[in-house]
Amino acid sequence: MLVTNEQLDGLVRADEVHRSVYVDPAIFDLEMKRIFEGTWIFVGHDSQVAKPGDFITTMIGRQSVIMTRSKGGQVHVLYNRCAHKGAELTSEREGNTKTFRCGYHGWVFGNDGTCMHIPAEPGYDDTGFGPDSCKRNLQSVAKVDIYRGFVFASLSEDVPPLTEWLGGAATSIDNMVDRSPEGELECVKGVLRYRHDSNWKFFVENLNDLLHAVVAHNSSSFTARRVAKQEVGEDVVIPAIEILAPFTSGYSFFDQMGVMTYPNGHSFSGTGKSIHAAYSDIPDYQNAMEAAYGEERTKEIFSTNRHNTVYYPSLTIKGAIQAIRVVRPISVNETVIETYHLRLKGAPEQLLKRTILYSNLINSSAMLVGPDDAEQYRRMQKGLMTQANDWVSMHRYLGREEEDKDGGTQAIGSSDIVFRNQFKEWLRLMTKGSDASLEDAA
Ligand code: FES
Ligand SMILES: [Fe+2]
Repeated sequence: MLVTNEQLDGLVRADEVHRSVYVDPAIFDLEMKRIFEGTWIFVGHDSQVAKPGDFITTMIGRQSVIMTRSKGGQVHVLYNRCAHKGAELTSEREGNTKTFRCGYHGWVFGNDGTCMHIPAEPGYDDTGFGPDSCKRNLQSVAKVDIYRGFVFASLSEDVPPLTEWLGGAATSIDNMVDRSPEGELECVKGVLRYRHDSNWKFFVENLNDLLHAVVAHNSSSFTARRVAKQEVGEDVVIPAIEILAPFTSGYSFFDQMGVMTYPNGHSFSGTGKSIHAAYSDIPDYQNAMEAAYGEERTKEIFSTNRHNTVYYPSLTIKGAIQAIRVVRPISVNETVIETYHLRLKGAPEQLLKRTILYSNLINSSAMLVGPDDAEQYRRMQKGLMTQANDWVSMHRYLGREEEDKDGGTQAIGSSDIVFRNQFKEWLRLMTKGSDASLEDAA
């Protein structure tokens, strides 16, 4: 089957997107090739491989990769594919090792990918098996770069430098890192990993969808407030209720939160009001920050209280909460989301406890807010299988209430500008090459 650029072009309009982008397996295959294997994708935080020999494994699109730190301290992202006959080299999610030994025929590689040993090597003498690196060594992905601890990789050479690609959206990573009195983050062990029965784009869109909260989270968040009131009364401050209460806000609050979009599909919510602004102070933290940065700068850092920032297509971060969620698409209607928690170095442990409490309450599929969203993603997947109307609306506030600012475009919170911006990048990446056949996507 041939998917032409003209056909792809016909799926995205200025104000609507065709339902097939969510439900067609052929489109999904092409997305993996052209989006996830064609642009910068988040691999991990460099603190996950803090020591030489540390490694983690993950996926970039459909490609299995290993992120390692070699003896000299350099971070590498290598294809998880033995140079010999192609076996996956390691199935461990993380570990520490000086070498990787393939379990099939025993070839041994260093953690920078260099082949160190081939058992019974003389058998290759005079066979034409030369020193060609791809026959002997593990292959590195095309590009690896690190922005303030966040490791991104691209399987394609044809990408702009990482900082240029991040653009103005990098300020959300800056703010998360600046919240550490030592200016450094550390990814803590353990991951909240869950699977949605839905297309990856529903999650990525939802993170800056400020229209849904009033309806989708109404029942869970009001119930939590009601139960807390019954159990402990209104005057006692419960951290869980501080976190959940803003989800009971109305449309004007979410509109005033505002959104900001940037080139390359990135965006964040929380240019104005913030759902994180009313948390109780942690005095030791305030003191540590002022000792590190001074009073003025500390005030400036805390005045940025963004909700979710999306680095399209793979990484979403909550700067004020120090949690990140990573998107790993599995198939057209299955997506794995991984939540990692980051410790602010030099900050009291209470901050990390709040991060994990937030994540358990809001992100976990076994708690209050996350399941509201997951249920709607599932319903979107099912609803869009019907032939009622081929088009999905992105009309809201089209061309209205927008202002160019700091290299981006700011808009009212419930604007569909975020989705229009994501699909602009989606189309750019999907039509970057020549017309694609499905073999091309495999
Ligand atoms: S496939 Fe790895 S050593 Fe043979
Ligand atoms: Fe939600």
